[in-house]
Amino acid sequence: MIQLIFKPSVCKFSTCREFAEEFKIGEGDLVLSNEYIYKPYFDGLNLPVTTVFQEKFGTGEPTDVMVETIMAQAKKTKYKRIIAIGGGTVVDIAKVLSLKSEGNVDDLYAKMPNLERDCELVIVPTTCGTGSEVTNLSILNRTRLGTKMGLVSDAMFADYAVLVPELLQNLPLGVFATSSIDALVHAVESSLSPKATAYTKLFGYKAIEMILQGFRKIVAAGNTKESRAEAAENFLIASNFAGLAFGTAGCAAVHAMAYPLGGVFHVAHGESNYALFTGVLKNYQQIQDSGEIRVMNEYLASQLGCSVDVVYEELEKLLNNILPKKPLHEYGVKEDDLQVMTDSVIKTQGRLMANSFVPLDEACILKIYSELY
Ligand SMILES: [Fe+2]
Repeated sequence: MIQLIFKPSVCKFSTCREFAEEFKIGEGDLVLSNEYIYKPYFDGLNLPVTTVFQEKFGTGEPTDVMVETIMAQAKKTKYKRIIAIGGGTVVDIAKVLSLKSEGNVDDLYAKMPNLERDCELVIVPTTCGTGSEVTNLSILNRTRLGTKMGLVSDAMFADYAVLVPELLQNLPLGVFATSSIDALVHAVESSLSPKATAYTKLFGYKAIEMILQGFRKIVAAGNTKESRAEAAENFLIASNFAGLAFGTAGCAAVHAMAYPLGGVFHVAHGESNYALFTGVLKNYQQIQDSGEIRVMNEYLASQLGCSVDVVYEELEKLLNNILPKKPLHEYGVKEDDLQVMTDSVIKTQGRLMANSFVPLDEACILKIYSELY
């Protein structure tokens, strides 16, 4: 059994200048980023690179159509290395761009996991959530299928994951909130996964501690911009730890059940995860109140300073200061949609559902959606 997959070399630099110098960023590099990130941090360095700004190709999380348009644009230039500087959308697109491909995105899914790399890939995350810089998957909204699905292949591991805390100094509250809660969900789900190992749990539980203590500090300081900026480096590292944990042990039912909410109702990834998070954990515990869920609940209770019997309530109390939890109907979900969402999970999310702490059947998935409705 695989204990820990650790493919990209992880580097950390205090400033973008240091990163640019060390990596000799210049001709032959294609930088995929967002203008609002690239301009303030890299424009002054006058790097002779080709830039592609993702937002020119559509807003929101990556879709098959967006990726195909960017692929066509990128193919017009010659490059030896792709440097992705951005959040989950930019990183996920860059992974797909780094692959050899002749057809469209559907063809890549059909060939998965036997995909091939085309050029070197460097990933620089600018949010503290996806952990995607160290994983081999890309999550795309397959608009032609109406759901989000992971494109998974070892060909999608970056050569380098580069952490530059400076890039997170001005993270808007909404992005900080959704991305850091996503990282927490990665850490919890991967630690409860049947594929969890002593190695993944080392990173997973440490990430939980760093994120919860970070949230407590930020909330105590009034959730100010300064308090979040001060915590940025710790959250970036925690998100990377969580990425290493779920890169091997996988995410599970929370992510699987959040995808129909994100894909159809356009709820941000971390927010849709939060809508499902404790609802799934409670059901795990109802089905089997022993083993790793017990360990997890005791750990969460110790981090939150509460007793185990109120651990989910206390967890939500803390998280609601960062991102208020909403019932599903507030996202536009109708009662009739719950069965459709359940069907979608059964049909398209088998990869993730297999990592659930205990198997969840159709009736249980529908029950969880109904409880959260
Ligand atoms: Fe996630």
